Amino acid sequence: MSKVAITGGSGFIGSHVVDKLVEAGHEVTVLDYRVRPHRGDVAFADVDVVNFSSILNATKDCEYIFHLAAVSNVNYAFQQPVYTVELNTLGTVNVLEAARHNGVKRVFLASTVWVYSGCRDDNVHEDSPFYMPGAGHVYTSSKIASEFLCHDYWQLYKQPFTILRYGIPYGPRMREELVIPIFLRKALNGDPISITGDGSQFRNFVYVEDLAEAHLLAMSEQAKNQTYNLEGSCRITIRDIAETVRYLLGNGVQIQYQPARSGDYAGKQVSAGKAKRELGWEPKIDFKEGMYRTLIWYAESHKLQIPTRPGGLLPGKGKERRIRGRVVGGGKTNGADRRVARDEKAGNGQALGGVHAGVRVSERL
Ligand SMILES: NC(=O)c1ccc[n+]([C@@H]2O[C@H](COP(=O)([O-])OP(=O)(O)OC[C@H]3O[C@@H](n4cnc5c(N)ncnc54)[C@H](O)[C@@H]3O)[C@@H](O)[C@H]2O)c1
Repeated sequence: MSKVAITGGSGFIGSHVVDKLVEAGHEVTVLDYRVRPHRGDVAFADVDVVNFSSILNATKDCEYIFHLAAVSNVNYAFQQPVYTVELNTLGTVNVLEAARHNGVKRVFLASTVWVYSGCRDDNVHEDSPFYMPGAGHVYTSSKIASEFLCHDYWQLYKQPFTILRYGIPYGPRMREELVIPIFLRKALNGDPISITGDGSQFRNFVYVEDLAEAHLLAMSEQAKNQTYNLEGSCRITIRDIAETVRYLLGNGVQIQYQPARSGDYAGKQVSAGKAKRELGWEPKIDFKEGMYRTLIWYAESHKLQIPTRPGGLLPGKGKERRIRGRVVGGGKTNGADRRVARDEKAGNGQALGGVHAGVRVSERL
């Protein structure tokens, strides 16, 4: 058991990392700015990571710091570039400096696969060189700069680090304005889901609990001063998301296609092979199961009824459902459950990850 501090531990990803750390028996302190943690059994310090003395005081006794506090919304970063650099980059150097002063064993930095935006290769891995004119976004540059600072702090001061480059996470507590909650909201309200273009834009979504699990594995000695891509294992297109919502909620979910917009950019094939080889990490939750859990969370947190539709998921009295042989709610099996079980048996669990033409990825996924 170790004393662990986590900045941004009240946020979407941080809250799941907190859950995993607590489950593993660590003594956790959430460092967040005015936002309390989602659970009451962890310590909390109201810390602004931009303020060095507050982070220095809050990390006095801790052995590990997971640093997740940042401007994470790229649209906000676009509108507020100065604040983004201040929070993301100055925040990181403050955390590293506090770690150095307090003798912290390791700082874990939340980075992103967006750092590959400027790479010239389409197939990228942790050692792919950055192409400096190509970062293309203040958010990306703020994370690249943060990564450089981690290396500097090791080379200059022997402050150990681990960099985790997240893929695109989804799951309970995710932000409302992203495509998955938008589609769920529309479908639950009986509105059509609209897709721009042919819906072939993709991301390798990673279920947030899988992502959180990697943080525990990254505490190993082997991960010291290393960088890992934590990318989802298969391509999920916009069309797949809409079809999965229909799969869960029934044929009544309408999907409409709108003309394509300009501005989408080419994505990269990001390898998560190093995390598998060295940490034994790979995503376990397939997209249907992850979407099922996200749907239940979304409906519960918004007090929305899951509608009874032909072929869809029937809410029943309890919320138990059996997916991949595991009970995730309470109640009898129904059409959707039986289809999930049938697809699992037929080995179609990865069907949503089939190959889709083109590597166009929407920035606004
Ligand atoms: N969500 C994604 O798609 C994604 C993808 C790749 C990387 N990341 C990175 O993962 C990390 C977590 O992202 P998230 O989606 O959970 O974001 P989030 O916005 O849900 O959480 C960020 C947390 O940081 C806290 N915070 C903001 N300003 C602070 C300050 N000055 N001092 C202390 N805490 C402060 C917020 O209150 C919030 O709890 C970020 O570093 C983000 O850049 C996110």
